[in-house]
Amino acid sequence: MACSRKCLSLELLSFWCLISYVQARPNAEAMALLRWKETLNQSSLQSWTLELSNGNLTSHVHSHCKWFGVSCNKDGSIASINLQGELFGGNLSNLDLSSFPSLVSLNLSHNNLKGDIPPQLGLLSNLAYLNLSLNYLSGFLPVSLANLTQISLLYMGNNLISGTVPKGLANLSLYEVHLSINNFSGPLPEFCQKAPLKYLTAALNNFRGPVPKSLRNCTSLVRVRLQNNHLTGNLDQDFGVYPNLNYIELSYNRLKGGLSPNWGGCKNLTQLKISGNDITGNIPGELGNLKQLGVLDLSSNQLVGEIPKELGRLSTLNYLSLSNNKLSGLPAIIFKSLQWFYPISDW
Ligand SMILES: *[C@@H]1O[C@H](CO)[C@@H](O)[C@H](O)[C@H]1NC(C)=O
Ligand SMILES: *[C@@H]1O[C@H](CO)[C@@H](O)[C@H](O)[C@H]1NC(C)=O
Ligand SMILES: *[C@@H]1O[C@H](CO)[C@@H](O)[C@H](O)[C@H]1NC(C)=O
Ligand SMILES: *[C@@H]1O[C@H](CO)[C@@H](O)[C@H](O)[C@H]1NC(C)=O
Ligand SMILES: *[C@@H]1O[C@H](CO)[C@@H](O)[C@H](O)[C@H]1NC(C)=O
Ligand SMILES: *[C@@H]1O[C@H](CO)[C@@H](O)[C@H](O)[C@H]1NC(C)=O
Ligand SMILES: *[C@@H]1O[C@H](CO)[C@@H](O)[C@H](O)[C@H]1NC(C)=O
Ligand SMILES: *[C@@H]1O[C@H](CO)[C@@H](O)[C@H](O)[C@H]1NC(C)=O
Ligand SMILES: *[C@@H]1O[C@H](CO)[C@@H](O)[C@H](O)[C@H]1NC(C)=O
Ligand SMILES: *[C@@H]1O[C@H](CO)[C@@H](O)[C@H](O)[C@H]1NC(C)=O
Repeated sequence: MACSRKCLSLELLSFWCLISYVQARPNAEAMALLRWKETLNQSSLQSWTLELSNGNLTSHVHSHCKWFGVSCNKDGSIASINLQGELFGGNLSNLDLSSFPSLVSLNLSHNNLKGDIPPQLGLLSNLAYLNLSLNYLSGFLPVSLANLTQISLLYMGNNLISGTVPKGLANLSLYEVHLSINNFSGPLPEFCQKAPLKYLTAALNNFRGPVPKSLRNCTSLVRVRLQNNHLTGNLDQDFGVYPNLNYIELSYNRLKGGLSPNWGGCKNLTQLKISGNDITGNIPGELGNLKQLGVLDLSSNQLVGEIPKELGRLSTLNYLSLSNNKLSGLPAIIFKSLQWFYPISDW
């Protein structure tokens, strides 16, 4: 019939459409990676080539899934690009991020990437892990990052990033936020509203303004590093009781207020460092309840009164610094395991 020819050619046409559809995505992804590779100073990406191993279209289509550092989901679309520590030079402006709609993990940490962080990162709607730490990235954190609704881990530490951290990041379900050792300024977003934040590191920047109110009830915190910024706040009121907290460092900020007895409820604390602020009042005896505490640094504050004898119960303590305060009376107790002890003045 006349129809059968038509139908056949229609069928052929849709077959070709199907083929080119199936091909389209993986090839666009592979091409985007190849275009980026050409601009990189690297020697580890030899496997990134589009050779036909046995003239087999299917293996051709998915061959980039076997490339070094690349892995695909079951549909053959790239799900992760992990090139940590390959020390290649280049920038991100030549990586067409709009080509990777299925990307879940992007880990380009510990390389020599320079230049801006592309706003197109916000297009990666499935991205759960982003690690760009330990590079030489500069410019600002794009506000489009607030569109990464699936992200749970954000590593941006050890770069040269300036400006404020977009407020909208507070709306994301982040478990880990790493911003330390950059040139960030402005306030910290109100993290820990949408998901139980565990790690917050923002040390060695120029963060200003109050300690986020959201941290007070953030009982999920495990590790907090906010030292060497210009954060203001009240140590009594801005921090709560954190049963999981293992490490907190708030040194060299502008915190006022006193040391609440609540700190004695952070039972898992191994290090408590609040040196170089303006904290006042006594050292509460409750700190003696911190059975795991190894490091206690409260030096260079305005603490007064006697060093509480309860600190003698801290059998795991090996570093204690209370110098540069207005504390009186050396404790009669003996810190048997102490290796470093700076009681009143700096030695
Ligand atoms: C990114 O790298 C390419 C290739 O080295 C270079 O031509 C381009 O100027 C760089 N772009 C930026 C913004 O640094
Ligand atoms: C490329 O890498 C080599 C070896 O690591 C280095 O010596 C060279 O300076 C780099 N070139 C650029 C333009 O980054
Ligand atoms: C394509 O390659 C796969 C594995 O490389 C092989 O199993 C298959 O038979 C090949 N198909 C054709 C049509 O050659
Ligand atoms: C970074 O990449 C390494 C492998 O290169 C991997 O083990 C690690 O889980 C990755 N981290 C993230 C956040 O993707
Ligand atoms: C992110 O990268 C840094 C530097 O390479 C590494 O130390 C850290 O473990 C990475 N994070 C994850 C979750 O893999
Ligand atoms: C975030 O996504 C929405 C919806 O896709 C879009 O309208 C908006 O421009 C995006 N915001 C940024 C800052 O990219
Ligand atoms: C957080 O999301 C809500 C609702 O989606 C929006 O109204 C609000 O402006 C967002 N907050 C920030 C800081 O972007
Ligand atoms: C650091 O940020 C400040 C603004 O807060 C800016 O004036 C300065 O140029 C930045 N420094 C670098 C090295 O980017
Ligand atoms: C913390 O939780 C307490 C009790 O659930 C509540 O009264 C208080 O308003 C919360 N504080 C903040 C800053 O969310
Ligand atoms: C407290 O620390 C112990 C060992 O150091 C660990 O086994 C336990 O899971 C921690 N508890 C919490 C609530 O993090």
